[in-house]
Amino acid sequence: MEIPRDVIDGLRSSPKRLPCRLLWDPRGAELFARICNVADYYLTRHELALLREHAAAIAAAAGPRARVIEPGCGLALKTRILLDALDAPASYVPIDVEAEQLALATADLRVHYPELEIEPVCADYMRTLELPAPRRAVDRGLVFFPGSTIGNFELAEAEAFLARFAHHAGERGLLVLGADSNSDPQALVRAYDDREGVTAEFDRNVLVHVNRAYGTTFDPDAFAHRAVWDAAHSRIEMQLVAMRDQRVRVADRELVVEDGEPIVTEHCYKYPVAVIEAQLARAGWRVRTVFPDPRGWMRLWLCERAG
Ligand code: AVI
Repeated sequence: MEIPRDVIDGLRSSPKRLPCRLLWDPRGAELFARICNVADYYLTRHELALLREHAAAIAAAAGPRARVIEPGCGLALKTRILLDALDAPASYVPIDVEAEQLALATADLRVHYPELEIEPVCADYMRTLELPAPRRAVDRGLVFFPGSTIGNFELAEAEAFLARFAHHAGERGLLVLGADSNSDPQALVRAYDDREGVTAEFDRNVLVHVNRAYGTTFDPDAFAHRAVWDAAHSRIEMQLVAMRDQRVRVADRELVVEDGEPIVTEHCYKYPVAVIEAQLARAGWRVRTVFPDPRGWMRLWLCERAG
């Protein structure tokens, strides 16, 4: 398969980069599911507690017959807390690029929610997409975007995403956004370089994926995972650091990676509260309520369409 332009350009840039979407092959999804249960990775745990605590308030704001739209639904485990709280939800639109995972999540939800209309969309939600017309009467759209995935987008991407989904939510639409605004370097480096080594495996798997997909010859065992807190940009940078000089075949060229050189694999922004507020406003959302965790790290943002 031809190597995409952004992969080639990223590997030629300084520092070298790989697009973070390449973390998400089936093995990457499996490892991420494990990360969510790792003690050092607090995000999932804190967000689940927030969802359980505030699902009733969110459901009260949504009212009956909501259409829940979830970009990047994965296995849709958190969604159930919301669906259980909602008053007679009209339908659920899970959107995911991984067809197999989407089929699995859909089948599972159909068993648990036989009354719910489920309308899966297999697509890359970072691109413009059409949602199916609802088959049942819908009172409002509710976009559900938990997990602090917003932090994996650069600022402009995040804003464009929020604006696109303001459109999908419709006039009376709501948004439930989960975002991590932690800035404690120690807790963050632990969360992204956990002591069980699961995140390191998740990160190194990107090279296995790239080798398989594009015929490159990276040696994943010759790279060490590192998580660096970049306070100036409020982000964790995930890096794979070469442990020796290496030559890697990339298409018809040889890529030289020097001992100690990093390849950046992911940015995890911890957007400060004021930045998220401004992003939401520019994208057409008005904040209704913010639910912070007790440490003020993870927050659920309940927003409504502005104007
Ligand atoms: C999917 N996303 C929200 C995770 C995060 O925390 O940024 C991805 C991740 N990368 C390393 N650990 C988890």
